[in-house]
Amino acid sequence: MDESAPSGGAFRHVRFAGRPTNAVSRSQHRAKSRSPVALRPSERPGQFISWVLERAGLAVENYRGEPLGRRLSPCLRALHAHTEAQARQTLEQRPDLLPTAISTLLIGVTDFFRDEPVFEALRTDVLPQWAHRSGPLRIWSAGCSNGAELYSLAILLAEAGLLEGSFLLGSDCRPDAVAHAQAGVYKSHDLRKIATSNRHRYFEEVGGLWRPIEPVRQHVHWRVSDLARHVEKGPWDMILWRNMAIYLTVEAAQSIWQGLAGALSPEGVLVVGKAERPPAELSLICASRCLYHAGPAGVVAVAGSRPRPTKHRGHRASETSV
Ligand SMILES: C[S@@+](CC[C@H](N)C(=O)[O-])C[C@H]1O[C@@H](n2cnc3c(N)ncnc32)[C@H](O)[C@@H]1O
Repeated sequence: MDESAPSGGAFRHVRFAGRPTNAVSRSQHRAKSRSPVALRPSERPGQFISWVLERAGLAVENYRGEPLGRRLSPCLRALHAHTEAQARQTLEQRPDLLPTAISTLLIGVTDFFRDEPVFEALRTDVLPQWAHRSGPLRIWSAGCSNGAELYSLAILLAEAGLLEGSFLLGSDCRPDAVAHAQAGVYKSHDLRKIATSNRHRYFEEVGGLWRPIEPVRQHVHWRVSDLARHVEKGPWDMILWRNMAIYLTVEAAQSIWQGLAGALSPEGVLVVGKAERPPAELSLICASRCLYHAGPAGVVAVAGSRPRPTKHRGHRASETSV
């Protein structure tokens, strides 16, 4: 599934620390406003999907119904059910299949160095600014899926000599995804965007699969957590929140944007998906495509917008560090 919108927009090199350069003032612009759109009833997730999300402790009202609806058939297939009623019965008898159901409903498409120009901008513009920092870097991939995104970042840091002492966290509400990230084993095809030299430098072969080497893995931590309920305590030098907001209602995304912006360090960088923009009210500065940072006045609080708690029903996505 291609989650990306046509890219478009200028993509220029900028400085993140200190005063903006000329290049910055030319290319920086405030995030464009998007007016919230009310969900029509037909766009709400259907009954079975709502029931599954609730069982998993996820707030159904946070999600757009249409993308979830497209995942209904794969979910039924994964549960060997022909109808929603059969699938529900299966899950009632086999609650251990709930993570399977959630993993088929919530789209987990990801990749190493997904959207390469963004990683290139991080490598050439952002990381050099951090070369002379004294303290360790703190980087969070929110909605990390199987961990490919965060391991890509770890490789960039290692190449820049910045990995040592850094703390990297990946979180996702799907226990299966987090287990995959924790195991850190990937097929050869998954590593296709990684140069052969780097593949051998940063990965080891394990039973025909590839795993990041221990000196990389030791800096990376994983947690099962519902982002709608819990923003990891900052300050973060970089937060990657990519390709998840597009599945949420405007309201749910807005409160998460605000939580993330508030958890950034003053010179922190927020990395978003191609089709995503933080709300203009937060006054984040777009430094280049998909990269944002706090404006000179910091992050502006949005009146009436704060992280919305998920109603706790049934089994909820636990917040477990692994
Ligand atoms: C399409 S993937 C994006 C993965 C990665 N960020 C990337 O861009 O390649 C979206 C991820 O968001 C996760 N997700 C959805 N709802 C979530 C929630 N409430 N809390 C945490 N993660 C969530 C999904 O499980 C999925 O792994």
